[in-house]
Amino acid sequence: MRALDIIRLKRDGHVLSREAIKTFAGGVADSSWPDYQVTAMLMAIFLRGMTLDEATVLTQAMAESGARLDPSDVLRPENGSTPVDKHSTGGVGDKASLVLAPLAAACGALVPMMSGRGLGHTGGTLDKLAAIPGFRTGLSVEEVRQTLSETGCVLFRQTAEVAPADRRMYALRDVTATVESIPLIASSIISKKVTEGIGALVLDVKVGSGGFMNDLAQARELSQWLVGISERSGLRTEALLTRMDTPLGRRVGNASEVREAIQTLKGEGPEDLESLSVILATRMLILGGVAGEDEAAGRVREALRSGRGVEKFRQIIAAQGGEPRVIDDPALLPLADREALVRATKRGVITRIDAGRVGHGAVALGAGRDHADAAVDPGVGIDLLVDEGATVNAGEPVMRVYYRDTASLEAALVHLQVATEVGEAAPPQRSLVMETIDGRTIQAQSL
Ligand code: URA
Repeated sequence: MRALDIIRLKRDGHVLSREAIKTFAGGVADSSWPDYQVTAMLMAIFLRGMTLDEATVLTQAMAESGARLDPSDVLRPENGSTPVDKHSTGGVGDKASLVLAPLAAACGALVPMMSGRGLGHTGGTLDKLAAIPGFRTGLSVEEVRQTLSETGCVLFRQTAEVAPADRRMYALRDVTATVESIPLIASSIISKKVTEGIGALVLDVKVGSGGFMNDLAQARELSQWLVGISERSGLRTEALLTRMDTPLGRRVGNASEVREAIQTLKGEGPEDLESLSVILATRMLILGGVAGEDEAAGRVREALRSGRGVEKFRQIIAAQGGEPRVIDDPALLPLADREALVRATKRGVITRIDAGRVGHGAVALGAGRDHADAAVDPGVGIDLLVDEGATVNAGEPVMRVYYRDTASLEAALVHLQVATEVGEAAPPQRSLVMETIDGRTIQAQSL
């Protein structure tokens, strides 16, 4: 089939055949489709949408466009369990991967975790790992397999060998206003997960100002697509929609977040981060077939209490060339040497710490990127000194900011000075997990 005919069919709103979608993905991967045809096709998909079946074929074709990790070649997990991963849509202060991946691996799960860089005001696991001196995430497929077989967990980046069709499509979407298409977002995310050779996937879809979706209905729709495509691609999948209207934990900024993840693995972390990490690791054990519903949470808690989780993180850091002494000596992680305080403007109760504003403040400091090529500074960040519900006096410090230069501090303060809201009454306690969507939930839906 010619590119022109496939583009025309989608432009006119038709459902594409498997062959047409594979031709498109193949043409993207081997560059036989020039940029103008790929972008015309992406715009046609953006405007006309896709069915779940079309998006699933696209996902598989993108996954098959490059190298795949097949952990079963090197490892035979015990008890018939299957390799399992977790993916977050990204939030502010979200360092849960650094806690739950070692915990799940310490419980016997096999965790090949391909992560991304921060996007916009949300942080990315790769940027946090880059704060650990020496830590390498740019591994070849062979190194990924080797590391996984040594430690049961590997934290790595998408290389040129992995899903090249997705790589090219994403780069073109980025410059042609076609990123915000749910079938394209969902197939892009799941295609990379399929290349990991996993059999199960837990999705953490963030809802609130610190994530990409403020709106529960939108988050639910994306979750349904992610779960639908993933299940049809043979992965047991669950999406947890979790609250991201306030930062997760008390530290935001790459090295600071590594410090907080280590603290949490030592049982000394903030309650929200520990609780979310335990919930997600528990779901990983269950979906990955490592433990049953009745024992999984107990096993994760035991790995935390006994220190096996933090020891696993030390082992992962060493296996990937990082400095394992950061576990005992957080001073080995970078920290900007200038500090400023943000203070409460009046007496009252903290009713809100707005994750979105804190995230934008962190980007202004240099902890994230305002454009794709921007460098990230691992040592800058923000410590939250109070929690929602705390009573504060006027002038009391609510945040400590670590910064490098006055211009970036001033740009960050524009966001941080209005991030905390003070009122009369404590906000109601709200559960972190808002709802769960799995294969059964979506069976009845027609997408
Ligand atoms: N993350 C991805 O990997 N792909 C998208 O399209 C959006 C976010």
